[in-house]
Amino acid sequence: MKNKKIRIGIAGLGTVGSGVVNLLDKNKEEIFRRTGFEIEIAAISATDKTKQRDCDITGFKFYSNPLDLIDSEQIDIIVELIGGDKVAKELVLKSIKKNIHVVTANKALIALHGNEISEISEKNQCDVAFEASVAGAVPIIKVIRESLSANKIFWIAGIINGTTNFILTKMLQTKKNFDDVLEEAKKLGYAEADPAFDIGGIDAAHKLAILSSISFGIPLDFNSIYVEGIENIELDDLNYAKELGYVIKHLAIGRRVKNGIELRVHPCLIPNTRLIANVDGVKNAVVVSSDAAGPTLYYGAGAGSLATASSVVSDIIDISRKIISKSNVSVPLQSYQQGSQSKENILNIREIKSRYYLRIRVINEPGVLARITKIFGSKSISIESILQKEDLINDEFVPIVLVTHAVVEKNITDALVDIENLEVVKDKIIKIRIEELN
Ligand code: HSE
Repeated sequence: MKNKKIRIGIAGLGTVGSGVVNLLDKNKEEIFRRTGFEIEIAAISATDKTKQRDCDITGFKFYSNPLDLIDSEQIDIIVELIGGDKVAKELVLKSIKKNIHVVTANKALIALHGNEISEISEKNQCDVAFEASVAGAVPIIKVIRESLSANKIFWIAGIINGTTNFILTKMLQTKKNFDDVLEEAKKLGYAEADPAFDIGGIDAAHKLAILSSISFGIPLDFNSIYVEGIENIELDDLNYAKELGYVIKHLAIGRRVKNGIELRVHPCLIPNTRLIANVDGVKNAVVVSSDAAGPTLYYGAGAGSLATASSVVSDIIDISRKIISKSNVSVPLQSYQQGSQSKENILNIREIKSRYYLRIRVINEPGVLARITKIFGSKSISIESILQKEDLINDEFVPIVLVTHAVVEKNITDALVDIENLEVVKDKIIKIRIEELN
């Protein structure tokens, strides 16, 4: 059907919103050649019309209240790019209750309220698409919901926060300190409005909640995810890991195991021979291991204006095709049919089994190592290797780096409490899990 127009309303003109306005303009012809229809921005909304921004909004109908988009124009799709879960939630719920399709990049919204949104949108026969909510330009949602729909998924593991990956990469490459590199990530538009969400792992946990729900057919359950950020990682750890043949990455992991599902977000040592170990800067990558396809890897820009807009516009196009063809067939929002989701046991972090990298700062005197290894022995923890490093600033102390064999986390946590109580041990012990990813 030629010359049909799809009218969209865009709420939010930050990094992603500006990218969508620019991309729809830049690739107008290309999109028309692919689809045969035009996507028209019927109206936009942002808090401040006069603010300096990276896109030209002259000529668009403008509202300062995003909710006005719903009623005031004949809009086919609301594009929610406000972020957060307050106004954004109100806009999305009001839209779907009025049978208006929604495209969103909002991971917090889907992670925290996706079960409710999914139910209401299905009842009202409209779609809520959220490709841009995870891994920026990488079409991982489509892959899991559609391309791998014939598979049982065993595990997923991903670098899904561009800011933390950018920081870890730059610290190692340039030896710059954490704060300087974070400033750079903010300037490039990678970081969240509150960068603590990136650094502390919350952003990656929002994304893991989404990925695990659509991979395993379980309800969205953000609160059951174990979350650790990169705040405690120091340049020394990046260097020692390198010496041991590993790279430190901030990973989100979802894995079916015998007694349930592991859902965890934290820094990991990954063998430097894995493809994902070489995913640097703002790039994201997700490995999906499933029964028929085996392991597959998806890679690309995890944040950034046009990169994220690519996923938003792709969702707009998908929904537009459905509107134009008058189809009422949709992929379920959470990938599995409503009512077919299983309630699995989500493991406590103390129940997982892993190998561990440990950095312990001790007083440099005879017998210290023996006291530490005795505690490990008492908790059935077997040591695989030990490196004793020099502290160039203060030779009264010395960092010891240990790698353990696989053990239940409870044993490690309990042993570290005892070791930290030794008067010869200084500072908190740095503990990083080791992931083989196979
Ligand atoms: N702050 C996010 C990141 C943006 O760094 O990955 C993309 O979701």
